[in-house]
Amino acid sequence: MIPSTSESPEQAKARGAFYTPAALTRFLARWAIRAADDRVLEPSCGDGAFVAAVRARFAMLGVTDLRRRLIGIERQPAEARKALAIAPSATVVTSDFFDVDPTSFGSIDTVIGNPPYIRYHAFTGADREKGLSRARAQGVHLTRLASSWAHFVVHSVSFLGPAGRLALVLPAELLHADYGQPVRELLLRRFGSVIVVAFDRAVFSDAQVDAVLLLASNDHGRGLRVVRLADERALDTLDVDAYTDLAPGTPARRWSRAVDAAAGSVYEEVMRSGTAIPLGAIASVDIGFVSGANGFFILSRDDAERRGLPVDVLAPTLRRPGDIPGLLASEGDARAAGAPAPGAVGRHGELADTPQRGGRGAGVRRRRLEAGDEGDRAPSHSAHGRITSRAPGRGLPEHRRHDPRR
Ligand SMILES: C[S@@+](CC[C@H](N)C(=O)[O-])C[C@H]1O[C@@H](n2cnc3c(N)ncnc32)[C@H](O)[C@@H]1O
Repeated sequence: MIPSTSESPEQAKARGAFYTPAALTRFLARWAIRAADDRVLEPSCGDGAFVAAVRARFAMLGVTDLRRRLIGIERQPAEARKALAIAPSATVVTSDFFDVDPTSFGSIDTVIGNPPYIRYHAFTGADREKGLSRARAQGVHLTRLASSWAHFVVHSVSFLGPAGRLALVLPAELLHADYGQPVRELLLRRFGSVIVVAFDRAVFSDAQVDAVLLLASNDHGRGLRVVRLADERALDTLDVDAYTDLAPGTPARRWSRAVDAAAGSVYEEVMRSGTAIPLGAIASVDIGFVSGANGFFILSRDDAERRGLPVDVLAPTLRRPGDIPGLLASEGDARAAGAPAPGAVGRHGELADTPQRGGRGAGVRRRRLEAGDEGDRAPSHSAHGRITSRAPGRGLPEHRRHDPRR
């Protein structure tokens, strides 16, 4: 939900202001706050979605005075005032979280919240430098491609004592983004138990974010566990401790396979059997780029010929697995999808994936379609790094070569 201040949606987006639905804040507060004397930090409290949930959780534990119990930090003064109005006895500090030293408030038992997701191209300058330097202070070296949530997670961990709990709403990039690997390593190193709750349906309606919940603690040493739910309604009755080890031994490199453990083990088995090879062995598999101009870059063979495009500016392209239905793909399938015979045009093939399950890219795409924005002919680049297309399955098999990294 975008906050209802006088700022525009663009301004709200620039500071990563997507506020958390109550089902999520309630669940995280219930899991994260165990005792009446717990001390809780919300590092980017916005207008107080978590402040309200923490207040309610403490009330259940018999605590109504939140002095020394709850500290909220928020950079935007108007939002900080709203958060304080929800819990006047709490401490709400108007500050950049990266300006706050981990020792400022004494020992903290729980860091809870939903940090801003600001992508690297907008998370720049002094803000990013401060985030990177706070991460370095924890021995974590983030790259300049990291979104702001990564720096928030690392700095948040530094506030916690050994028995502390981390309860955050994060983008699903936590599971798979390359830039997130140092964060995954930190979490597995620092916490004996790391639980990720993933959802089949998007839990943020407007935010264009595929969100997951991160629950990290040292309650026991069961490593990474991934719990998959249909949607946020299942949280009210969820007991994460009832889940046994669902992703034993999953390394920090990628956690996405652990989201569907059964599919992961089928994949491992097929690979071990030697009856299949990864697509990457015969094609270039790339997340691509968002051009906003699919009509210009992706076109059928006939179109290409009609426009007199030389073959050396074209590459055979599969945009999504659905372009080759079934488990077995032959050269004929590729041609049925419209692709020319390998080698007939271009020097490499490329699978341009489309976002799954309402991910951030999908949201962006949906927005564009709703706005009728497919007609931009300029070869613009997007940091989202995907080729998207509104056209159904088949028939747009080639793309004009345009490599933004050159
Ligand atoms: C995703 S919103 C979440 C707000 C609230 N935690 C919730 O769940 O509803 C992120 C908030 O972080 C704030 N923010 C962005 N950068 C910040 C920073 N460096 N320090 C503190 N707050 C920041 C934004 O103003 C925004 O209110």
